[in-house]
Amino acid sequence: MRGAELDTREEALVAVAREAGELAARLFSQPQSIKMKGKQDFVTAADGEVERMIVARLKTQFPNDAFLGEEEGVKGRGDAIWVIDPIDGTANFANRIPHFCVSIAFMSAGELALGAISAPMYGEIYRARLGKGAFLNDRAMRVAEKPDIRRAIVELGWSSRRPVRAYTQMVERVLATGATFQRAGSGALGLAYVADGRTHGYCELHINSWDTLAGLLMVREAGGWTNDFLAGEALQRGNAVLACAPGLKEALVAATGVGQANADEQLKRRMS
Ligand code: IPD
Repeated sequence: MRGAELDTREEALVAVAREAGELAARLFSQPQSIKMKGKQDFVTAADGEVERMIVARLKTQFPNDAFLGEEEGVKGRGDAIWVIDPIDGTANFANRIPHFCVSIAFMSAGELALGAISAPMYGEIYRARLGKGAFLNDRAMRVAEKPDIRRAIVELGWSSRRPVRAYTQMVERVLATGATFQRAGSGALGLAYVADGRTHGYCELHINSWDTLAGLLMVREAGGWTNDFLAGEALQRGNAVLACAPGLKEALVAATGVGQANADEQLKRRMS
C-alpha cells in the first residue's frame, strides 16, 4: 500500500479509536445487558454497539477494505483488513472495573501496518505505525532498557481455551526467574504497557488476533521483541503470544515455552 493511502488510514484509525473510546466510556456509566459466550467469556451490549460504530465509520471511508471484528466476524474480502476488538477487557467492563480499551489494527498484504488502542478511562490513546514508532498520546514509547529480572513485572494473561495446569505451571516458572506477575484482564493494554516500559513482558498461551495485533505492533515499534504471533492461521484462530523487553527474551522464552522456534532468528533480524 502506498504511503499516502496509509497516511489516510492512520488518520482515520486514530480518530475512530478516540470516538469509540468515548462511546465505550459513556456506555460504561450506564447499566449494561451482559451475556456469557462461554465460561469466563463476557459480552455486553456495548461490545456490539462500539464495533458497529467503528465498522460503519471506516467502511464509509474505505468501502473496499475488509473487517474482522470480535463480535461481528468477517465482513468483505481483500488484503487490506481492519482487525477490531471493540472492548478488550470485557470482563472488567461488565464488572464496572475501568481497565478496558478499544483496540484496532490494520493489515495490508499480510503485514501489520497500523495499530491504535484507546483506554478512555485513563485518557490514553496509544498508536503505532510500521517503521514509524509507537506513541502514547504525543510521547514516543520505548520498552524498558536492560531490565533486571528480579524487579520485572510480567503480565500473564489467562485464557479458558488452555488447560488450567498449563497456566499455573507457567506462573511458577516465571516466578522462578525472579520476576513477579500480574493479570489485569486486557491483553491489548497489557501489550501497550510493555511498549511503554511500564511492565516488562506479556504472555498468554492462547489469545485472539483482535486482542493482540495493535499492541504487538506497539511493542515492536517501541524496540521490544515479540514471537511470530501471526504464523499459521493466527489471524482467524489466535495463537500464543509473548512480547517483552529484549533483555528478558531468553529467560521468558525458556519460562513460558512461547517463541522457542523463532526467537533467535527474530532477535537477529531486529538487531541487524
Ligand atoms: C480478553 C482479554 C483478556 C485475555 C483474553 C481475551 P476480551 O479479551 O484480552 O485479557 O486474557 O484471552 O479474550 O474478551 O475482553 O475482548
